[in-house]
Amino acid sequence: MAERVYVNEVGLRDGLQIHPHFIATDDKLALLDALIAAGVTSFEATSFVSPKAVPQMADSADLFKRLPVRPGVEYHALIPNEKGYERAIAAGARSVALVLAATETLNKRNINMSLGEAVEVCKAVLRRARAEGVATRAYIAAACACPYEGKVAPAAVFALTDEMFAAGAADIGIADTIGAGNPAQVAYLFGTVAKKHGAARVSAHFHDTRAMGLTNAWAALQEGIRRFDSSIGGLGGCPFAPGASGNLATEDLVFMLQESGFETGIDIAGLRQAVTVAERITSQHLGGRVAAYFASQDKRRAAAAE
Ligand code: COA
Ligand code: ZN
Repeated sequence: MAERVYVNEVGLRDGLQIHPHFIATDDKLALLDALIAAGVTSFEATSFVSPKAVPQMADSADLFKRLPVRPGVEYHALIPNEKGYERAIAAGARSVALVLAATETLNKRNINMSLGEAVEVCKAVLRRARAEGVATRAYIAAACACPYEGKVAPAAVFALTDEMFAAGAADIGIADTIGAGNPAQVAYLFGTVAKKHGAARVSAHFHDTRAMGLTNAWAALQEGIRRFDSSIGGLGGCPFAPGASGNLATEDLVFMLQESGFETGIDIAGLRQAVTVAERITSQHLGGRVAAYFASQDKRRAAAAE
């Protein structure tokens, strides 16, 4: 039987947070429905952050309460602090993802905390979530490079990973927030963490800024990683990390995995439908690197049918 790889769709959070115009909650839910129809079962649905910092996420409580309950479909909420945790739980979240950046400056710009403060806040929230039976992930953002401080020493990522696991994080999401990593670096980072903590507890989050999203995903896969974030159509970017372009596109990732013999439970035709919904709600032209190939295949089929 084909080996399973788990895809966590982050388009509704990472993908939309930078979008300049507020997207109606109904439109976000329409995109979610299209993704569920394609077989996606894991979503980072929104973030409980300050609406002043990220106006696009101002509807998080309303959105979370309206998420469709479907067998096997899980929703995660990104949170920056204890207030975010409380708001997420009040809205019905049972799984939270904390965001900690590997550098001093990105923590300051992103969540207005020093690295030390951010570590303490994350630890406290992780302990509380564990005691309250809430599932947890801790992201280590800017794990390959920081938009303000440049290359990040792997030792810094390893130390934060150890601390977050020790505080009770069930999963660590190592995030190349600005897409500045390369496959050699990714293999070393993920390989080291996987050996120490077990690959099953580590997720990979890549951006495709320098066209290395898929290659980096493949490098992580070779280190045993089987959990990946991606966003439909390659939507995305972080408003506080200049240079962060879209996430690795879900359709690129799923296509590569399927072509390589892995099982994702996700249907490519369904993802292409979801891309059209994402285009409609963002009024943007979207699509991963494989979009041109899919379009050429459509043309060929249409010509053959004539
Ligand atoms: N959700 C909503 N509001 C929040 C909040 C949360 N999680 N945490 C704090 N606030 C509110 C406070 O209640 C306060 O409100 P008031 O002005 O009405 O009194 C205000 O925000 C300022 O609180 P403070 O603790 O001083 O926060 P801050 O201004 O230092 O901002 C964060 C800190 C973390 C809230 C803010 O930087 C943030 O939301 N960052 C997230 C950025 C992000 O989403 N990045 C992309 C994803 S990685
Ligand atoms: Zn990201």
